[in-house]
Amino acid sequence: MRTQVGIVGAGPAGLLLSHLLALRGIDSVLIEIRSREYCEARQRAGLLEQGTVKLLRDAGLADRLDRQGIEHGGIYLQFAGERRHLDFVDLTGRTVTIYAQTEVVKDIIARRLADAGSDAIQFSVTDTQIEDIDTDKPKLRYITPDGVGHEVTCDVIAGCDGFHGICRPAIPADALTITEREYPYSWLGILADVAPSTDELIYSHHPHGFALHTLRTPTISRLYLQVGKDDDIANWPDERIWAELQQRLALPGWTLHEGPVLEKAISPMRSFVSTPMRYGRLFLAGDATHIVPATGAKGLNLALSDVAHLAPALDALLHGQPALADAYSETCLQRVWRSTHFSWWMTTMLHRTPGADDMEAQLQLSQLRYVTTSRAAATSLAENYTGMPLP
Ligand code: DHB
Repeated sequence: MRTQVGIVGAGPAGLLLSHLLALRGIDSVLIEIRSREYCEARQRAGLLEQGTVKLLRDAGLADRLDRQGIEHGGIYLQFAGERRHLDFVDLTGRTVTIYAQTEVVKDIIARRLADAGSDAIQFSVTDTQIEDIDTDKPKLRYITPDGVGHEVTCDVIAGCDGFHGICRPAIPADALTITEREYPYSWLGILADVAPSTDELIYSHHPHGFALHTLRTPTISRLYLQVGKDDDIANWPDERIWAELQQRLALPGWTLHEGPVLEKAISPMRSFVSTPMRYGRLFLAGDATHIVPATGAKGLNLALSDVAHLAPALDALLHGQPALADAYSETCLQRVWRSTHFSWWMTTMLHRTPGADDMEAQLQLSQLRYVTTSRAAATSLAENYTGMPLP
Protein backbone atom coordinates (compact mmCIF):
# COMPACT_ATOMS: atom_id res chain seq x y z
CA MET A 1 0.00 0.00 0.00
CA ARG A 2 1.04 3.63 -0.55
CA THR A 3 0.07 6.93 0.94
CA GLN A 4 1.50 10.42 1.03
CA VAL A 5 1.63 10.89 4.80
CA GLY A 6 1.71 8.06 7.34
CA ILE A 7 0.44 9.39 10.67
CA VAL A 8 1.13 7.53 13.91
CA GLY A 9 -1.30 8.36 16.72
CA ALA A 10 -4.95 9.48 16.74
CA GLY A 11 -4.70 12.02 19.53
CA PRO A 12 -5.55 15.65 18.80
CA ALA A 13 -2.34 16.26 16.77
CA GLY A 14 -2.63 13.22 14.49
CA LEU A 15 -6.35 13.69 13.98
CA LEU A 16 -6.14 17.38 13.14
CA LEU A 17 -3.19 16.74 10.82
CA SER A 18 -5.08 14.09 8.85
CA HIS A 19 -8.01 16.51 8.47
CA LEU A 20 -5.86 19.55 7.51
CA LEU A 21 -4.02 17.40 4.94
CA ALA A 22 -7.32 16.11 3.53
CA LEU A 23 -8.50 19.73 3.10
CA ARG A 24 -5.36 20.23 0.99
CA GLY A 25 -6.07 17.12 -1.08
CA ILE A 26 -3.28 15.08 0.53
CA ASP A 27 -3.92 11.45 1.55
CA SER A 28 -2.82 9.96 4.78
CA VAL A 29 -3.06 6.72 6.69
CA LEU A 30 -3.70 7.26 10.40
CA ILE A 31 -2.98 4.43 12.82
CA GLU A 32 -3.68 4.19 16.56
CA ILE A 33 -2.89 1.40 19.04
CA ARG A 34 -5.85 2.27 21.29
CA SER A 35 -9.52 1.68 20.58
CA ARG A 36 -11.83 4.47 19.46
CA GLU A 37 -13.67 4.16 22.79
CA TYR A 38 -10.45 4.68 24.73
CA CYS A 39 -9.43 7.73 22.66
CA GLU A 40 -12.85 9.30 23.14
CA ALA A 41 -13.03 8.67 26.90
CA ARG A 42 -9.52 9.64 28.04
CA GLN A 43 -9.79 12.72 30.29
CA ARG A 44 -7.27 15.46 29.62
CA ALA A 45 -7.22 19.24 29.90
CA GLY A 46 -9.99 21.37 28.55
CA LEU A 47 -8.82 24.88 27.88
CA LEU A 48 -8.36 26.26 24.35
CA GLU A 49 -6.38 29.39 23.54
CA GLN A 50 -8.14 31.91 21.33
CA GLY A 51 -5.85 30.96 18.42
CA THR A 52 -6.70 27.27 18.86
CA VAL A 53 -10.43 28.02 18.66
CA LYS A 54 -9.83 30.00 15.47
CA LEU A 55 -7.73 27.17 14.01
CA LEU A 56 -10.51 24.63 14.66
CA ARG A 57 -13.14 27.04 13.33
CA ASP A 58 -11.14 27.77 10.15
CA ALA A 59 -10.80 24.00 9.64
CA GLY A 60 -14.59 23.59 9.84
CA LEU A 61 -14.38 21.63 13.08
CA ALA A 62 -16.08 24.03 15.48
CA ASP A 63 -19.85 23.40 15.13
CA ARG A 64 -20.18 21.81 18.56
CA LEU A 65 -17.33 23.86 20.05
CA ASP A 66 -19.19 27.04 19.08
CA ARG A 67 -22.39 25.73 20.67
CA GLN A 68 -20.99 24.10 23.81
CA GLY A 69 -17.65 25.80 24.48
CA ILE A 70 -17.67 28.22 27.40
CA GLU A 71 -15.76 31.43 26.72
CA HIS A 72 -13.84 32.88 29.66
CA GLY A 73 -12.48 36.40 29.83
CA GLY A 74 -10.17 35.86 32.80
CA ILE A 75 -9.12 33.74 35.77
CA TYR A 76 -8.89 34.06 39.55
CA LEU A 77 -5.58 33.74 41.39
CA GLN A 78 -6.06 32.91 45.07
CA PHE A 79 -3.33 33.26 47.71
CA ALA A 80 -2.89 34.42 51.30
CA GLY A 81 -6.65 34.25 51.90
CA GLU A 82 -7.58 36.53 48.97
CA ARG A 83 -9.05 35.80 45.53
CA ARG A 84 -7.95 38.26 42.81
CA HIS A 85 -9.41 38.44 39.30
CA LEU A 86 -7.31 38.91 36.16
CA ASP A 87 -9.32 40.33 33.26
CA PHE A 88 -7.77 39.00 30.03
CA VAL A 89 -10.16 40.90 27.77
CA ASP A 90 -9.21 44.20 29.35
CA LEU A 91 -5.50 43.30 29.37
CA THR A 92 -5.12 41.71 25.92
CA GLY A 93 -8.48 41.78 24.12
CA ARG A 94 -8.33 37.97 24.07
CA THR A 95 -10.31 35.14 25.71
CA VAL A 96 -9.91 31.39 26.26
CA THR A 97 -12.57 28.69 25.82
CA ILE A 98 -13.40 25.75 28.06
CA TYR A 99 -13.99 22.71 25.84
CA ALA A 100 -12.56 19.33 26.79
CA GLN A 101 -9.80 17.68 24.77
CA THR A 102 -11.94 14.53 24.60
CA GLU A 103 -14.65 16.56 22.85
CA VAL A 104 -12.12 17.93 20.32
CA VAL A 105 -11.03 14.34 19.69
CA LYS A 106 -14.63 13.11 19.24
CA ASP A 107 -15.41 15.97 16.83
CA ILE A 108 -12.39 15.28 14.59
CA ILE A 109 -12.87 11.49 14.63
CA ALA A 110 -16.52 11.94 13.58
CA ARG A 111 -15.52 14.33 10.82
CA ARG A 112 -12.73 12.11 9.44
CA LEU A 113 -14.97 9.05 9.41
CA ALA A 114 -17.77 11.03 7.73
CA ASP A 115 -15.42 12.48 5.08
CA ALA A 116 -13.21 9.49 4.37
CA GLY A 117 -15.07 6.38 5.54
CA SER A 118 -14.44 3.84 8.24
CA ASP A 119 -10.87 3.14 7.03
CA ALA A 120 -9.81 6.75 7.62
CA ILE A 121 -8.50 5.82 11.06
CA GLN A 122 -7.14 2.36 11.90
CA PHE A 123 -7.82 1.91 15.61
CA SER A 124 -6.54 -0.91 17.85
CA VAL A 125 -3.58 -1.78 15.63
CA THR A 126 -0.61 -3.72 17.04
CA ASP A 127 3.06 -4.26 16.20
CA THR A 128 3.48 -0.72 14.86
CA GLN A 129 6.89 0.04 13.36
CA ILE A 130 8.39 2.81 11.27
CA GLU A 131 11.33 2.18 8.96
CA ASP A 132 13.61 3.94 6.46
CA ILE A 133 12.96 7.41 7.89
CA ASP A 134 16.28 8.61 6.47
CA THR A 135 15.19 7.71 2.92
CA ASP A 136 12.53 9.37 0.75
CA LYS A 137 10.31 6.27 1.06
CA PRO A 138 9.74 5.73 4.78
CA LYS A 139 7.47 2.81 5.75
CA LEU A 140 4.79 2.20 8.30
CA ARG A 141 4.06 -1.37 9.42
CA TYR A 142 1.21 -2.54 11.62
CA ILE A 143 -1.30 -5.33 12.16
CA THR A 144 -5.02 -4.58 12.12
CA PRO A 145 -7.38 -6.28 14.63
CA ASP A 146 -8.36 -8.86 11.96
CA GLY A 147 -4.77 -10.15 12.17
CA VAL A 148 -3.70 -8.82 8.75
CA GLY A 149 -0.23 -7.26 8.50
CA HIS A 150 0.14 -4.01 6.54
CA GLU A 151 3.13 -2.27 5.00
CA VAL A 152 2.52 1.28 3.83
CA THR A 153 5.12 3.16 1.80
CA CYS A 154 4.88 6.90 2.50
CA ASP A 155 6.45 10.14 1.33
CA VAL A 156 6.74 11.30 4.93
CA ILE A 157 5.76 10.05 8.39
CA ALA A 158 4.26 12.25 11.10
CA GLY A 159 4.92 11.03 14.64
CA CYS A 160 1.95 12.18 16.71
CA ASP A 161 2.14 9.23 19.09
CA GLY A 162 2.78 10.93 22.40
CA PHE A 163 5.57 10.82 24.94
CA HIS A 164 5.63 7.01 25.15
CA GLY A 165 5.25 6.44 21.40
CA ILE A 166 7.53 4.65 18.91
CA CYS A 167 8.45 7.60 16.66
CA ARG A 168 10.87 9.67 18.76
CA PRO A 169 12.85 6.51 19.74
CA ALA A 170 13.19 5.69 16.02
CA ILE A 171 15.53 8.68 15.69
CA PRO A 172 19.20 7.90 16.51
CA ALA A 173 19.79 9.11 20.07
CA ASP A 174 22.82 11.14 19.02
CA ALA A 175 20.68 13.18 16.63
CA LEU A 176 18.47 14.51 19.45
CA THR A 177 19.03 16.99 22.26
CA ILE A 178 16.73 16.38 25.21
CA THR A 179 16.11 19.02 27.87
CA GLU A 180 14.06 17.71 30.73
CA ARG A 181 12.90 18.45 34.27
CA GLU A 182 10.64 16.44 36.56
CA TYR A 183 8.69 18.19 39.29
CA PRO A 184 8.52 16.73 42.81
CA TYR A 185 4.71 16.53 42.78
CA SER A 186 1.80 15.23 40.67
CA TRP A 187 -1.78 16.31 39.98
CA LEU A 188 -4.84 14.42 41.09
CA GLY A 189 -7.72 15.37 38.77
CA ILE A 190 -11.40 14.64 39.31
CA LEU A 191 -14.48 15.04 37.16
CA ALA A 192 -17.49 15.72 39.41
CA ASP A 193 -21.21 15.65 38.71
CA VAL A 194 -21.92 19.06 40.20
CA ALA A 195 -22.39 22.53 38.76
CA PRO A 196 -19.19 24.60 38.96
CA SER A 197 -19.00 26.77 42.07
CA THR A 198 -17.29 29.54 40.10
CA ASP A 199 -17.82 31.58 36.93
CA GLU A 200 -14.10 31.47 36.01
CA LEU A 201 -11.16 29.18 36.86
CA ILE A 202 -9.62 29.49 40.34
CA TYR A 203 -5.88 28.81 40.68
CA SER A 204 -5.11 28.59 44.40
CA HIS A 205 -1.76 28.82 46.18
CA HIS A 206 -2.10 27.22 49.62
CA PRO A 207 0.29 26.01 52.37
CA HIS A 208 -1.00 22.44 51.74
CA GLY A 209 -0.21 22.76 48.03
CA PHE A 210 -1.88 23.93 44.82
CA ALA A 211 -5.55 23.46 43.89
CA LEU A 212 -7.47 24.36 40.70
CA HIS A 213 -11.20 24.63 40.16
CA THR A 214 -12.07 24.38 36.47
CA LEU A 215 -15.16 23.09 34.70
CA ARG A 216 -16.44 21.17 31.73
CA THR A 217 -20.10 22.09 31.28
CA PRO A 218 -22.73 24.03 33.26
CA THR A 219 -23.33 20.84 35.27
CA ILE A 220 -19.88 19.16 35.39
CA SER A 221 -16.92 20.44 37.38
CA ARG A 222 -13.26 19.50 37.05
CA LEU A 223 -10.90 19.98 39.98
CA TYR A 224 -7.22 19.31 40.55
CA LEU A 225 -5.05 18.94 43.65
CA GLN A 226 -1.28 18.90 43.99
CA VAL A 227 -0.37 15.51 45.51
CA GLY A 228 2.88 13.63 46.19
CA LYS A 229 5.01 12.67 43.19
CA ASP A 230 4.51 8.95 43.68
CA ASP A 231 1.14 9.19 45.38
CA ASP A 232 -1.33 6.37 44.77
CA ILE A 233 -4.96 7.06 43.87
CA ALA A 234 -5.88 4.41 46.48
CA ASN A 235 -4.74 6.93 49.13
CA TRP A 236 -7.41 9.35 47.96
CA PRO A 237 -10.98 8.28 48.75
CA ASP A 238 -13.52 10.85 47.52
CA GLU A 239 -14.10 12.26 51.02
CA ARG A 240 -10.40 13.03 51.41
CA ILE A 241 -10.26 14.72 48.00
CA TRP A 242 -13.23 16.98 48.82
CA ALA A 243 -11.89 17.78 52.31
CA GLU A 244 -8.57 18.88 50.80
CA LEU A 245 -10.26 20.88 48.02
CA GLN A 246 -12.47 22.56 50.65
CA GLN A 247 -9.39 23.69 52.58
CA ARG A 248 -7.25 24.77 49.65
CA LEU A 249 -10.03 26.69 47.84
CA ALA A 250 -11.79 28.10 50.94
CA LEU A 251 -12.77 31.77 50.93
CA PRO A 252 -15.08 33.45 53.47
CA GLY A 253 -18.58 33.87 52.00
CA TRP A 254 -17.98 31.38 49.13
CA THR A 255 -19.05 27.73 49.00
CA LEU A 256 -17.47 24.87 47.07
CA HIS A 257 -20.33 22.54 46.10
CA GLU A 258 -19.56 18.81 46.20
CA GLY A 259 -20.98 16.06 44.02
CA PRO A 260 -20.41 12.47 42.92
CA VAL A 261 -16.88 11.87 41.57
CA LEU A 262 -17.28 10.48 38.05
CA GLU A 263 -13.61 9.78 37.49
CA LYS A 264 -10.24 10.40 39.13
CA ALA A 265 -6.59 9.92 38.17
CA ILE A 266 -3.09 11.07 39.08
CA SER A 267 -0.71 12.47 36.42
CA PRO A 268 2.99 13.35 36.73
CA MET A 269 4.35 16.84 36.07
CA ARG A 270 7.23 17.14 33.62
CA SER A 271 8.91 19.66 31.32
CA PHE A 272 10.52 17.94 28.31
CA VAL A 273 11.73 19.26 24.97
CA SER A 274 13.39 17.03 22.36
CA THR A 275 15.02 18.83 19.43
CA PRO A 276 14.96 18.95 16.48
CA MET A 277 11.33 18.06 15.75
CA ARG A 278 12.33 16.47 12.45
CA TYR A 279 14.71 13.74 11.35
CA GLY A 280 14.87 13.01 7.62
CA ARG A 281 11.34 12.19 6.50
CA LEU A 282 9.97 11.86 10.06
CA PHE A 283 8.27 14.93 11.56
CA LEU A 284 7.24 14.90 15.23
CA ALA A 285 4.35 16.88 16.71
CA GLY A 286 2.76 17.28 20.14
CA ASP A 287 3.71 15.19 23.18
CA ALA A 288 5.96 12.97 21.03
CA THR A 289 8.46 15.81 21.10
CA HIS A 290 7.55 18.11 24.03
CA ILE A 291 5.71 17.90 27.36
CA VAL A 292 4.71 20.75 29.65
CA PRO A 293 3.46 20.49 33.22
CA ALA A 294 -0.33 20.90 33.28
CA THR A 295 -0.56 24.32 34.96
CA GLY A 296 -1.83 26.72 32.28
CA ALA A 297 -3.11 23.93 30.00
CA LYS A 298 -0.64 24.45 27.16
CA GLY A 299 -0.17 20.81 26.04
CA LEU A 300 -3.16 20.50 23.71
CA ASN A 301 -2.70 24.04 22.38
CA LEU A 302 0.94 23.37 21.51
CA ALA A 303 0.13 20.06 19.83
CA LEU A 304 -2.49 21.69 17.60
CA SER A 305 -0.17 24.61 16.87
CA ASP A 306 2.52 22.15 15.70
CA VAL A 307 0.20 20.55 13.15
CA ALA A 308 -1.10 23.95 12.01
CA HIS A 309 2.50 24.53 10.89
CA LEU A 310 3.11 20.97 9.73
CA ALA A 311 0.18 20.70 7.29
CA PRO A 312 1.27 23.57 4.99
CA ALA A 313 4.92 22.54 5.37
CA LEU A 314 4.19 18.98 4.18
CA ASP A 315 1.95 20.25 1.39
CA ALA A 316 4.80 22.40 0.09
CA LEU A 317 7.37 19.61 0.55
CA LEU A 318 5.25 17.16 -1.42
CA HIS A 319 5.11 19.75 -4.20
CA GLY A 320 8.88 20.08 -4.34
CA GLN A 321 9.23 23.12 -2.07
CA PRO A 322 11.14 22.13 1.06
CA ALA A 323 11.61 25.58 2.71
CA LEU A 324 8.69 25.36 5.20
CA ALA A 325 9.49 21.76 6.10
CA ASP A 326 13.13 22.72 6.65
CA ALA A 327 11.99 25.55 8.94
CA TYR A 328 9.31 23.46 10.74
CA SER A 329 11.32 22.57 13.82
CA GLU A 330 12.75 26.07 14.40
CA THR A 331 9.39 27.71 13.77
CA CYS A 332 7.54 25.46 16.24
CA LEU A 333 10.26 25.58 18.87
CA GLN A 334 9.82 29.33 19.35
CA ARG A 335 6.31 28.70 20.65
CA VAL A 336 7.26 25.45 22.39
CA TRP A 337 9.91 27.21 24.47
CA ARG A 338 7.62 30.16 25.27
CA SER A 339 4.94 27.75 26.53
CA THR A 340 7.57 25.63 28.32
CA HIS A 341 8.73 28.71 30.18
CA PHE A 342 5.19 29.90 30.96
CA SER A 343 4.09 26.46 32.20
CA TRP A 344 7.21 26.16 34.41
CA TRP A 345 6.63 29.69 35.73
CA MET A 346 2.94 29.14 36.56
CA THR A 347 3.79 25.77 38.11
CA THR A 348 6.62 27.01 40.32
CA MET A 349 4.66 30.12 41.35
CA LEU A 350 1.71 28.05 42.58
CA HIS A 351 2.99 24.70 43.93
CA ARG A 352 4.61 23.88 47.24
CA THR A 353 7.91 22.03 46.81
CA PRO A 354 8.07 19.28 49.46
CA GLY A 355 10.58 20.29 52.12
CA ALA A 356 10.92 23.87 50.79
CA ASP A 357 11.91 26.62 53.20
CA ASP A 358 9.81 29.70 53.87
CA MET A 359 11.79 31.64 51.25
CA GLU A 360 9.95 29.73 48.47
CA ALA A 361 6.52 30.62 49.86
CA GLN A 362 7.40 34.27 50.38
CA LEU A 363 8.84 34.65 46.88
CA GLN A 364 5.72 33.00 45.41
CA LEU A 365 3.43 35.30 47.38
CA SER A 366 5.39 38.34 46.28
CA GLN A 367 5.12 37.24 42.64
CA LEU A 368 1.37 36.56 42.99
CA ARG A 369 0.85 40.02 44.52
CA TYR A 370 2.88 41.51 41.66
CA VAL A 371 0.90 39.82 38.85
CA THR A 372 -2.38 40.85 40.48
CA THR A 373 -1.44 44.51 41.11
CA SER A 374 0.88 45.54 38.27
CA ARG A 375 -0.82 45.97 34.91
CA ALA A 376 2.46 45.19 33.14
CA ALA A 377 2.92 41.90 35.04
CA ALA A 378 -0.77 40.97 34.66
CA THR A 379 -0.59 41.65 30.92
CA SER A 380 2.41 39.35 30.58
CA LEU A 381 0.54 36.52 32.28
CA ALA A 382 -2.61 37.19 30.23
CA GLU A 383 -0.73 37.32 26.91
CA ASN A 384 0.93 33.96 27.59
CA TYR A 385 -2.20 32.33 29.01
CA THR A 386 -4.48 33.29 26.12
CA GLY A 387 -1.70 32.39 23.64
CA MET A 388 0.03 34.19 20.81
CA PRO A 389 -1.92 34.32 17.53
CA LEU A 390 -1.22 31.42 15.14
CA PRO A 391 -0.13 31.95 11.52
C1 DHB B 1 -7.66 22.82 32.89
C2 DHB B 1 -6.43 22.23 33.09
C3 DHB B 1 -5.34 23.04 33.38
O1 DHB B 1 -4.15 22.48 33.57
C4 DHB B 1 -5.46 24.40 33.48
O2 DHB B 1 -4.39 25.15 33.78
C5 DHB B 1 -6.69 24.97 33.25
C6 DHB B 1 -7.78 24.18 32.95
C7 DHB B 1 -8.82 21.97 32.61
O3 DHB B 1 -8.69 20.75 32.61
O4 DHB B 1 -9.92 22.52 32.41
